[in-house]
This record gives sequence, structure tokens and C-alpha cells, in this order.
Amino acid sequence: MSHLFPTYARWDVTPLKAKGAYLTAKDGKEYLDFTSGISVCNLGHAPENVKKAVEEQLENFWHTSNLFQIDLQEEVAKQLTDASGLDLVFFGNSGAEANEAAIKLARKATGRTKVITFIDSFHGRTFATMAATGQDKIKTGFGPMLETFEYVKINNLDGLKAALDENTAAVMFEVIQGEGGINEGNADFLKEVEKLAHENGSLVIIDEIQTGIGRTGKPFAFQHAGLDPDIISVAKAIANGFPLGAIVGKAALAEAFSAGSHGSTFGGNPVALAAAKETLNTIFDEKFLADVTAKGEKLNSLLTDALSGVDSVKQLKGKGLMVGIELTDEAGPFVTKAREHNLLILTAGTHVLRLLPPLNVSDKEIEKAVTILAAVLKAE
Ligand SMILES: Cc1ncc(COP(=O)(O)O)c(C=O)c1O
Repeated sequence: MSHLFPTYARWDVTPLKAKGAYLTAKDGKEYLDFTSGISVCNLGHAPENVKKAVEEQLENFWHTSNLFQIDLQEEVAKQLTDASGLDLVFFGNSGAEANEAAIKLARKATGRTKVITFIDSFHGRTFATMAATGQDKIKTGFGPMLETFEYVKINNLDGLKAALDENTAAVMFEVIQGEGGINEGNADFLKEVEKLAHENGSLVIIDEIQTGIGRTGKPFAFQHAGLDPDIISVAKAIANGFPLGAIVGKAALAEAFSAGSHGSTFGGNPVALAAAKETLNTIFDEKFLADVTAKGEKLNSLLTDALSGVDSVKQLKGKGLMVGIELTDEAGPFVTKAREHNLLILTAGTHVLRLLPPLNVSDKEIEKAVTILAAVLKAE
């Protein structure tokens, strides 16, 4: 009998070891991992340079508290602000915590309470971020939600115009909805959202928790559309598997997050930051990011060829190495079949297969994954 709450529909795979793009299970089965811990291990499993940085920090100190000056916090904050064009960072431990911080900051800075989010978005599982999430299934059974949030359709300006009012603190969205189905906000729409929000005195919060840290071929997905957010939230891949989250925001917001206004015991943990410093140093590099774009194009073009004429495939979606394959049927059974063929992939929404390989995936690994996927989808 398990002593865990049954909150996860777990796979029948017990990891023993994982290195690069491969995961070996306790039963000896070896899997090609195109999940990257759900967009967390963007440099693959256990990269040597990150491991070394963590080992060094373990020798120095593990935790002191945020009463101390932590050099690593300043160093990683500089990496994040340099890469995003924003100014100031607050560190937490997870994506939901980062979004909580963003929502609190927007409300305090504007003195307004409403936050507009998008239908089919996913922003986390805490009480506020669950309410922010535009999917009913996440909220079922938890009683009345916070009334702070109003939900509008992606790529539909009329809905947004109707929702924006003098009490709107912020509009918060993912540039590409990850959990919701790899749904991309088109650049013109997002630009207009930003313009309308700013004209209304509302902030723009972009949730880069799944799309950020190089996943789409730029440090952050908002940069493809040339947006100018007030706050972005990041987590997942920031420390390649160590728990860390952050918001990065404009300097004008500093006063609203003055001493004593927000905090976290573990937020900005030095061991996680040592991993983050090395991870960001590797990923926020022009050549590395150009390679992500090239690999994304390769994966896309091989999938296009291999899946052309497969009836159950509707379209390919996504950007860089965040790839969705929209199906006519439910995606779940194909994820199981791929696993039986030693390939780990995910669903997004009900009808989309989601591929999130490590960003340093090799051409050979891409070819292998496409061969397995084509066999699985054609065998239907
Ligand atoms: C876009 C987005 N926001 C927020 C979260 C929540 O992050 P966490 O699970 O670290 O709290 C996720 C997690 O999947 C996510 O994809």
C-alpha cells in the first residue's frame, strides 16, 4: 500500500538513473526522455557542469536565510535581468509561488484587485494560482474561488476589451499555453493586449514558467513577439531540476515590494542558485539558442514528413523545442503506447501530444523519437 496521497496518475516507471536524454528504470528498461521532467531538465539529466557547481556549493554552505547578503542571488538576478531586459528579481521555490508573487506585486503596485487571465491557461495549484488558471477541472471540489480573476479567450480582443476596467491590476498570460494544449497567442494579438493593458494603467504579467529558459529558442517566449512585460514569472528549467522560481520585474515596482512585504524561507536557496547560475550561463548564449531553433526546425520537419497522411494527426503546434501534435483522438493512449516503445512524451490538454526534449538533444535522438512516434501513430 502506498503512503502517498493519490494526487498523481503515475506511470508504471520507477527511475533508477538518468543522464542526458536517457532515463533508466528499476526494471532495467531504458527510455528516451522527451519530457525533460516537464520542461525542467533543459540541459538533460545530470549535466556535468551543473553537478560540479552544486557540489562546490554543498561544500560552502546550504542555507543561511534571507537575512544575509547572498552573492549568488545577485549573480543569478543579473543573469535574469540581462536576458529579459527587466530590472529586479524576487526568488521563490516554484512556479506557483512565482505567480503568487506576481499577482501580489501587481495588486499592491496598482492599488487595484482584478487580474485577467486566459481560458485554458495554467498558472499553478496554490489557492490564488488555481483561481487564476482558466480550466475548471483544476478547481473542482475546492469551493468558491478567489473573485480576483476574470477569464478571456486567447486571440480574441473583444473579450479582453470587455474585461479591462479601472479595477484591473494586470493581464496575465502564457505566450504559448503549455498544459492547456500548446496554444499560441499570435504576436499581433499579444501586442494589442499589451497596448490596451498599459493604456488602461494595468500591468502585463507573462508566465514564462514552461516557455522560458530557452525552450522556444529565445531566453523567454515574449521576446519572439517583441513584448514589453512589467513582470515575468519563471521556474521549472531555471536550475535544471533544483527547486527555484522567480519573478523578474520593472524597477518602478520596487516600492510595492519593500522590506517586509513579501518573503520565503527557502526562496533563493544557495544550492539551487548554484545550479541556476551554471544552467543560465549555458543556455543564455547566442550559439546555444540558435542551436535550439535549428533543432526545433529539424524536429518539426522530420515530424511533418513522417506524419503526413496519418489520419489521426491534425496539425503540429509550438515553437523551438516546445512541440505539440494535435490529434483527432484523445492523446493519452498514444503517450502510453510511446512509453511501451521506450519513448517518454506528455499530453497537453486532451488531444495534443507534447514533446519537450532537452535543449541539447542530439540529431540522432530526434530521429529516433520521430521513428517511434510515427510507428505509434500509424499503428492505430
Ligand atoms: C505555465 C505554468 N505556470 C505555472 C506552473 C506551476 O508551476 P509549479 O508546478 O512549479 O508550481 C506550471 C507548471 O506546469 C506551468 O506550466
